Amino acid sequence: SAIARSNASSSARIPCRNYSVDSGPERKVAVLGAAGGIGQPLALLMKMNPLVSKLALYDIAGTPGVAADVSHINTRSEVAGYAGEDQLGKALEGSDVVIIPAGVPRKPGMTRDDLFNINAGIVKSLCTAIAKYCPNALVNMISNPVNSTVPIAAEVFKKAGTYDEKRLFGVTTLDVVRAKTFYAGKANLNVAEVNVPVVGGHAGITILPLFSQATPKANFSDEDIKALTKRTQDGGTEVVEAKAGKGSATLSMAYAGALFADACLKGLNGVPDVVECSYVQSAVTELPFFASKVRLGKNGVDEVLELGPLSDYEKENLKALKPELEASIEKGIKFASQS
Ligand code: NAD
Ligand code: LMR
Repeated sequence: SAIARSNASSSARIPCRNYSVDSGPERKVAVLGAAGGIGQPLALLMKMNPLVSKLALYDIAGTPGVAADVSHINTRSEVAGYAGEDQLGKALEGSDVVIIPAGVPRKPGMTRDDLFNINAGIVKSLCTAIAKYCPNALVNMISNPVNSTVPIAAEVFKKAGTYDEKRLFGVTTLDVVRAKTFYAGKANLNVAEVNVPVVGGHAGITILPLFSQATPKANFSDEDIKALTKRTQDGGTEVVEAKAGKGSATLSMAYAGALFADACLKGLNGVPDVVECSYVQSAVTELPFFASKVRLGKNGVDEVLELGPLSDYEKENLKALKPELEASIEKGIKFASQS
């Protein structure tokens, strides 16, 4: 099949040059919670990523079907499904990137913190296994409340002696995706050219889009900026309400998760100047975890970038979000150290 592949490629003149060489080094990606609302479309998108050579799909149940289905797609990666805790080790072994969308989603009227009681335990047990089976993997945490689940993961890894702050990421890409969409829509700009950093955390007012740094520049009134900020902060709730009890964002989240995992893989592969916003261990503010622009490299976080100049409105919002974010971080640390 290597011959068939090289004949089909644009470099058919070069003998022995196969698809995996064209696509970079071998990279294994594991998705934990792969049979869920996010997990399934995320599995599809990761199967379409040529940087992936092995795709491990893990869930408590349902993954054999998802894996069989996705595995028929004629792209580079080899797909395997793993169901149940006794297969978790195999799913994780050798992983370069582990994406975690395992856990319960919100229903209307709930906050992300209302998910803590169930999801904290799920994240803790999955991270315990990561520490054992693939301690060097980059961990992309999607499970909510992200503001607390990332500190939980850090504590679990610290206890296991495997913690490397460069390898743990809270996925806040969906906030950036939303900010770009809403900004471009309101300014009538080509969304593909728009950039908006989003900093802070991933819940309500802790989500702080920096529209003062958005490019291209648009002439918005203070009221417009306030409305765009609020819509970005309430984007998750907008979807939860529209789905009316059938869960939260899954498709846009799968897109955002695939984008962030791709950035992690590019960083690992040595592609220069890969920058994405993410919730990481940080010294950018006095809080131990904070989302901001992060340069990704061969070891995960290469550099956590400063916030840059803020408008007065953003400065106020930054001040207002810190107590909530701090409380969520402390809640996560306390859970992990007590249980
Ligand atoms: P879902 O209920 O559709 O799927 C969750 C999956 O996790 C299920 O298949 C379930 O079996 C699995 N799961 C539960 N316990 C597990 C365990 N111990 N090991 C492995 N898998 C396990 O939910 P969803 O809509 O896919 O959302 C998943 C999580 O992602 C929720 O916590 C949600 O709040 C969060 N989320 C985060 C963002 C973000 O921006 N970071 C965006 C959307 C959703
Ligand atoms: C989102 O932002 O869509 C997710 O965090 C899910 C949610 O509960 O809003």
